[in-house]
Formats: sequence, structure tokens, C-alpha cells
Amino acid sequence: MKTVIASCLLLLLSVSGVLSVEWKHSAILDNNFLLLWTPDETDVLFEIQAKTLGYVSLGFTKDDGELGTDMVIGWVDNNGQIHLQDRHVKNASGDPQMDSSQDYYLQLGYENKTHTVLRFSRQYDTCDLRDLKITNDTMRVVWQYHVEEPVSVTGRLPEHGAVRGSRPLYLVQGGAQTKQSTRNQEAEESLKTWDIFNQQVSLSDIKDPLLRRRFVKIPNVDRKQHVVKYEPVIQPGNHKYLHHMTLYECRGDPAELEAIVNTYASVSNLLSLQCNTIAAIWSVGSEGFNYPPEAGSPIDPHYGPHYYMLETHYTNPQMDLFISDSSGLRLYYTDRLRIHDAGILSIGIDPNWRHIIPPGQPEVISEGHCISDCTRETIPNSGINIFAVTMHTHQLGRKVRLRQIRHKEELPPIASDTNYDPSYQEYRKLQKPARVNPGDYLIAECTYSSESRHTMTLGGQATREETCLVSSLYYPRIELSLCYSLPSLRTVLESLGIQKLTPGVTPVTIQKPANLANMTLENRLLSYDWSTNFQTFQRVTRRGTFKPLCSTNKGPLKDTENLEVPYPTILAPFEEPSVPCSKKPLRNNLSILLSEDEDIGAPMDPDSDETNAVERGQLVRSKVSRSSDGPTAGSSSARPVSVALMLAVATVVVGAAFR
Ligand SMILES: *[C@@H]1O[C@H](CO)[C@@H](O)[C@H](O)[C@H]1NC(C)=O
Ligand SMILES: *[C@@H]1O[C@H](CO)[C@@H](O)[C@H](O)[C@H]1NC(C)=O
Ligand SMILES: *[C@@H]1O[C@H](CO)[C@@H](O)[C@H](O)[C@H]1NC(C)=O
Ligand SMILES: *[C@@H]1O[C@H](CO)[C@@H](O)[C@H](O)[C@H]1NC(C)=O
Ligand SMILES: *[C@@H]1O[C@H](CO)[C@@H](O)[C@H](O)[C@H]1NC(C)=O
Repeated sequence: MKTVIASCLLLLLSVSGVLSVEWKHSAILDNNFLLLWTPDETDVLFEIQAKTLGYVSLGFTKDDGELGTDMVIGWVDNNGQIHLQDRHVKNASGDPQMDSSQDYYLQLGYENKTHTVLRFSRQYDTCDLRDLKITNDTMRVVWQYHVEEPVSVTGRLPEHGAVRGSRPLYLVQGGAQTKQSTRNQEAEESLKTWDIFNQQVSLSDIKDPLLRRRFVKIPNVDRKQHVVKYEPVIQPGNHKYLHHMTLYECRGDPAELEAIVNTYASVSNLLSLQCNTIAAIWSVGSEGFNYPPEAGSPIDPHYGPHYYMLETHYTNPQMDLFISDSSGLRLYYTDRLRIHDAGILSIGIDPNWRHIIPPGQPEVISEGHCISDCTRETIPNSGINIFAVTMHTHQLGRKVRLRQIRHKEELPPIASDTNYDPSYQEYRKLQKPARVNPGDYLIAECTYSSESRHTMTLGGQATREETCLVSSLYYPRIELSLCYSLPSLRTVLESLGIQKLTPGVTPVTIQKPANLANMTLENRLLSYDWSTNFQTFQRVTRRGTFKPLCSTNKGPLKDTENLEVPYPTILAPFEEPSVPCSKKPLRNNLSILLSEDEDIGAPMDPDSDETNAVERGQLVRSKVSRSSDGPTAGSSSARPVSVALMLAVATVVVGAAFR
């Protein structure tokens, strides 16, 4: 009873603020479905605002689909009762079935003339096998809604006419804040804008994805400014043609860059322009990025990069005609400088053919090393603080980690995604900046699946080639900008079973072993029997020597050129702690009524004991006004907001009583 009173009081205390929650994140899943959420200590609070008076549903799934979909479904019925149900779909075709453990908690719900609004929370890990854990990984979010409600409380959902969709999202590490919560701050800072937009790129007639690279120069400012935020500006109607936009800092020859400013120069020597570090990135579904209040990226007329390249990736699968695009990125900057200058550090594998990914393999691991010598020479004793990262591979990437080793001991990864989606890339903000000390050793580790490929994939910048990069935003800014590595030639040869090349011969030819003598290296690569040699290849590439490549803003770091170093010693590799999941005892005997995996999809008799028990037992029952803001059609009485809130309290009390 104590708990009941306690939660009741707590809720009453917070009720005054309930409607004006400051949401940390928002995403327009489709034009009629807005999702708001705030990741908290142990729970995530969600709110759905959907333009329908039928049911609404939100779900989570992994890209491999193995675990099915975890769904929460809710609606406000004709009697003003709110229903919220934890269900799951075992496979794509099936009707969502009720979970025996109900792990979503209703906080608030109502309908007005047009919309259904439901606010609810759940734990990151509900300890229910039917629910997906919410983690730092890319989550595939599924939404669905319908003009109608289910006929009975636990029944099937009306099938035809449901609107549904899915897309990847960072639920925990999203980089943008909702507009409402940043408005005041922006006004205070009197932000100026730097628009980096495309100029009427013609998309008619493109069959294959189109990549356009536009070169720009920083705005004409007389003193240092800080970029504190960026967002996409999409030409109305063009969302479907845009795949991603990436803004790179260019560190190549200024004269060469100046000559191509404001053009789409198709440069042959792209590598020499050194546009490698990712300054800003947008891909479908992302809403931009807000810097933390203590840092901003400098635009400085006297220092640092002055040239940038906006790379836009277009698709036009339907071959629509007469389409052109002028979308781009809007950067917000201010002369009210923040405490720290932010910098960008890129860690990974140098884009080079020596990065080899054999075909037909479910899992190929490649690593880029940022060695201790590089961080020792460039990072001050007080360290640097990484506050955001974006991971970058091309189509084959499936997992990415940024590992950190200090004194031969591995710390928890700075960032990790085991459900990485190469088509969804944006800066993810770490909940708390990760400190990197001088002498720390960093590894960008990428895991690829090459099952779809019949031929080998090599490292490079083209779409079919592969890459493994993690760009990180950090402060305070230091000179180090690239920290890469490249397998040594020795490692590459050994991984291909070659002992010696014939000196001074083109094309490059093998001398030893004898059975390969006079075969060209290219032929060896093309004809290698990966199915029997893959394990050896993987072991040799991961343990062989490599060449570190560290660059500062002024060029390669002295004393790290022409080194060939062995794989680092890691005495204590990091192991994911296995947190035992303590499932709360079931709050009621619902599981018996809804014995898992049995067909509960069939409509139940609404008057049966079973159905009543189901309702009594937590499929969240509460009487709430149908309207929060005035009279509603079809509702007998229009009660004001406060009623809805009081009844939300009632819900929690009922919930607590069952604990
Ligand atoms: C999906 O579920 C339905 C109903 O449970 C079943 O008949 C069907 O075989 C399943 N499909 C797959 C691909 O597992
Ligand atoms: C109903 O609520 C939604 C979500 O809060 C809001 O966007 C919409 O304007 C409201 N509609 C009316 C008619 O009040
Ligand atoms: C996300 O990563 C951070 C830092 O590694 C960790 O502390 C946190 O628990 C993770 N969050 C979730 C929901 O897994
Ligand atoms: C390889 O080529 C060299 C020079 O052309 C020749 O002397 C040698 O016999 C060849 N070896 C084999 C195994 O074909
Ligand atoms: C609920 O389950 C518990 C434990 O399984 C059992 O002891 C109790 O009798 C059940 N209650 C009802 C009403 O079935």
C-alpha cells in the first residue's frame, strides 16, 4: 500500500508538468505519425501523436529479422478507455500476438478530433524475450496505424488499410534535439546561417545512383566563429531522391581548391584534395546535429580548413523526369564562442587496395589502428573528449566499433553498433564524452558481410569499394586529424599465400612459392580459393604488421612515417559484462490466461470471464476523457485536460496495486 501512495504522490507532484514535457528527440515517421522520446536512466519515455482515431502502433526490430518485432499497440475506444498492449510479431506476415509479460507503461493518452496521443515508458531491457532491448545500436523502428480500432480488446487488428513503415533510428544516441527545446537557446545565441546547398542538380535520366561533389569556402567572417548546430534543408518533394549528404573538410592545396569553389568540378585527383574528415552528415531519417553547450566547430579566417566539399548521393529509381534538386545543409554559427574549439579526428583504414574483403563470407573483420605514438605526440596531458562519432562503411558494413586500449588494457568501446546500417549514417552523440589520453591506442573495427558478392572487394572511395572509418567530434582541438593504418605489403602477401614477388617486373609477378611462379598478383587475387583459405587469410590480416598513417593539419606526423608495426598487445580485452536480467514476478496471472505462443489472435467473447480478467489484469485500463482540448465528436461529455491527467494517475495506482 505504501508504494501505491508513494507513486500516487510522486505522480501528483509531477502532474503539473506532464503536458509540457521537454522531449529530447523527435522524428516524423510519416506525415501523420510523430514520435517523441526521451531516453532516461533506466527507461525510455515515448509519445506517439498520430493523425488517426483508430489504433496506433510502434515497434522495434533488428535488421536480420530473426527476433521478430516487438510492438506496442494502443487506442482510445468509444467509451474513452485507453488501451495499451505489449505485443509481438514472430514473422512479417503474422498478426501481432499478446506478450504474456506487459512491459510498456501508459502515462497519458487522449484523442482529439483528429489525433490519438499516447505517452508510455518502458525499460531499455525489459527482461522479456519477446521485447527487443533498446541499446546504442541502430534500431529499426516500425510504425503502423489504422482508421479503425480492433473489434475486441485482445483481438486481431483490422488488417486491410493499415498504414505502416519502418526506418533505422538512433534512439539512445540521437544527435539532434527537438525544435521546441532548442528554440530559446538559439534566440539567445543569435545564430547566423551558412547554407551549403546544391544548385539545381538535374536528376532526370539518372539510372544509377548519382554522386555530386560541390566545393565551397567558409563564409566571409572577420574573426573566429563557432558552428554549434546543423540541419538538413530538403527541397520540398525531393526527400525521395536524396540518400545522403556528407560535408568533408578539405586539406589539400588551397590554390587548387580555390579554383573549384562553388563548382561541381569533376576532379581526377580527388585524393590530392584531401577531403577526408566528415564535418557534417545527413542521411534519410536524420534531423541534424546539435553540439553540446561547451563546444563548437571553429570557422576561422586565420586558421584551419577554409574549404569544404558537400557530397550528395541521389537516387531516382523511378526515372522521374524534369527533376532537379537544390537541397543541402544549413550550418548555424555564432560569434559568442563556446569554451572549447571542437575538432574532427578520423580513425580507420586508409582507403587503399590493400584493404581486401574476400567474397562470399558472412563475417569479415577489418581493423584500422591509431597507434600510441600518434596520440602520445599530439594529445595534451589533459586529454581530449570525444562527444560524437559517425561510423562509415559502404554497402557491406554490418558492425562497427571504436575500441580504446590504455596501458595494454581495453576500456569499454567508445562507440559500438552491432546493427549498423550503411544506409543510415549520422553523428551519434555519446551520452557522456569519452576521454582519450596521450598514449591511448584506438582501433576502428569493421565487420562486413560479403555473402552478396562473388568477387573480391577492395578498399577505396567508390561505392562498390569498401571503407572503414570512424569520424569523431571532440574538444579541445588538437593538430591530429587523421589516424589511419594500412596492412603492410608483407601482411597482404602472406595473407594470399605468397612468399616473394619477382623484383622489378610489371605487371607485378610472383616468384615464390614455386607453384605460383610467374602468376601475376592480380591473377592470384582473382583466382584465390577463398572458401578454403578464408580463415588463414583472416588470421594473417588481423595479426600481421601494418603501416600507421598519422596526419596533422600540416601533413604526416614526424617519426611515424615509414613504420611497420605489429598488432598491439592487449592483455585484458574488454568483455561485455553480462548483466543478469531479473525479471519482476508477473504482476498477475495474465500469462496463464494468455499462455505464450498459443493462438490468442482469435477474437474473444467480449463478455467472457477471460476477457474481463484480461482487462482487469493490466492490459491497461483507465477511463480518460476522449478530449484534451474541447468537445469531441461522438463523445458524450467533453472533459478538460485535468481529468485526463487525474485518470492517468489512476492508471498508475491500478498498475501499482497489481505489483
Ligand atoms: C509466419 O507465421 C505464420 C502464422 O504463424 C506461419 O503460417 C508462417 O509459416 C510463418 N512464416 C514464416 C516465414 O515463418
Ligand atoms: C490534436 O492533437 C494533436 C497532437 O497533439 C495536435 O497536433 C492537433 O493540432 C490537435 N487537433 C485539434 C483539432 O486540436
Ligand atoms: C550506451 O553506451 C554507453 C557508453 O558506452 C553506456 O554507458 C550505456 O549504458 C549504453 N546505453 C545503452 C542503452 O546500452
Ligand atoms: C617464369 O619466367 C621466367 C622468365 O620468363 C622463366 O625463366 C621461368 O622458367 C618461368 N617459370 C615457370 C615456372 O614458368
Ligand atoms: C496465480 O499464480 C500463482 C503462482 O503461479 C498461484 O499461486 C495463484 O493461485 C494464481 N492465482 C490465480 C487466481 O490463478
